[in-house]
Amino acid sequence: MTARRTKIVATLGPASNSPEMLEQLILAGLDVARLNFSHGSPEDHKARAKLVRDIAAKHGRHVALLGDLQGPKIRIAKFANKRIELKVGDRFTFSTSHPLTDGNQDIVGIDYPDLVKDCGVGDELLLDDGRVVMRVETTTADTLNCVVLIGGPLSDHKGINRRGGGLTAPALTEKDKADIKLAAEMDLDYLAVSFPRDAADMEYARQLRDESGGKAWLVAKIERAEAVADDETLDGLIKASDVVMVARGDLGVEIGDAELVGIQKKIILHARRHNKAVIVATQMMESMIQNPMPTRAEVSDVANAVLDYTDAVMLSAESAAGAYPLEAVQAMARICLGAERHPTGKSSSHRIGKTFERCDESIALAAMYTANHFPGVKAIIALTESGYTPLIMSRIRSSVPIYSFSPHRDTQARSAMFRGVYTIPFDPAALPPGEVSQAAVDELLKRGLVQQGDWVILTKGDSYHTIGGTNGMKILHVGDALV
Ligand code: G6P
Ligand code: MG
Repeated sequence: MTARRTKIVATLGPASNSPEMLEQLILAGLDVARLNFSHGSPEDHKARAKLVRDIAAKHGRHVALLGDLQGPKIRIAKFANKRIELKVGDRFTFSTSHPLTDGNQDIVGIDYPDLVKDCGVGDELLLDDGRVVMRVETTTADTLNCVVLIGGPLSDHKGINRRGGGLTAPALTEKDKADIKLAAEMDLDYLAVSFPRDAADMEYARQLRDESGGKAWLVAKIERAEAVADDETLDGLIKASDVVMVARGDLGVEIGDAELVGIQKKIILHARRHNKAVIVATQMMESMIQNPMPTRAEVSDVANAVLDYTDAVMLSAESAAGAYPLEAVQAMARICLGAERHPTGKSSSHRIGKTFERCDESIALAAMYTANHFPGVKAIIALTESGYTPLIMSRIRSSVPIYSFSPHRDTQARSAMFRGVYTIPFDPAALPPGEVSQAAVDELLKRGLVQQGDWVILTKGDSYHTIGGTNGMKILHVGDALV
């Protein structure tokens, strides 16, 4: 059976917390478990993380853990009666001086003093992911007075965005800073930064991660209009990250849904070009919150992301709070496999006409060129310290599986994010040098992944534990005595 290449990220929550459900999700193919730091206590997150790791270990699976920082989502304060109903044409005011627990039909407080500075007459404000839309008519020193363009219910703490972006809250809040420490304590594999504006925000997050002693790779959530306003900003943000997420919820609100698909394709392309992994997120299987089957449009959305060569597709409320978390993971797995059967080409034009920047990158790409052009090659073994070598390899389109061979727990889990990459625990330093190739190929034979007569490519460096040290590739014939 062909293994699925595209990876599945699923958000954990009340619908998926029980050990039984988690076990089923992991067996159904969950690759990355997302912990949403916007909800739940540190104890909740720690308990969930431990369960995921214990169950994955029990089944010999490698599941990465991704912590998602809440970020500076700007929210309205509370209503005296929890919720109001707005009609088209109603007048409504946001006030930075109104009491924070005393909103009513006409006015609500907001705990973000710069809102009035950041917005002007004529701006459109989107509440609750765009379900309610208003236009600013007049302003005072502490209020925005609006008219309702699209009505609907509005309740406590709903998010607020400005069409076109430009609300300037810094990307990392005090809570985020505390959660970066929590992520380090939990030894999370990935950490997602919400609403970064540019490379500097990611660099600041990296500095805080380093100070806290964490090793998580950083995910930039692309969800502000500013982040995609021009290629320079987008590429800067990508280069300052390890992974990017097309965070379509807030991004769609800020730039409008019509442009979202084109921008999604561009982000995937640019991320891969810069040797980064990429996740497509939000509303991929939205109707499965209530239904056991996805709609054709949702199937098409997931399949298209796969055809565009995303590394991973993500479930949010579908797996965190929906009625069918298991069915959602199963449906995603099935759709990914189906879409992968229709490759857009076995060859890759990636980097043709470009110069390579590094020795390990050159070896990784040489390995992929060989794998795609030498029909007997059935597997690629990348000996890796950090996961970097298999990551670069998997930027190239191919149907040949890439096996990430590493002795380190974090690298084993991290590799679960990369398209077409599978983890096999392996420590070359524990063996005499002359036995490493044979032992590595034996690991594949043992699992039935290759057979006698197949060809296998193996990459490694001169020393056994040097990140970036890959400088050699071997082409091995399975069945021959290997040295
Ligand atoms: C393993 C190999 C080394 C190689 C390294 C590359 O440790 O044994 O020979 O240098 O991986 O690691 P990287 O993190 O760059 O993929
Ligand atoms: Mg968001």
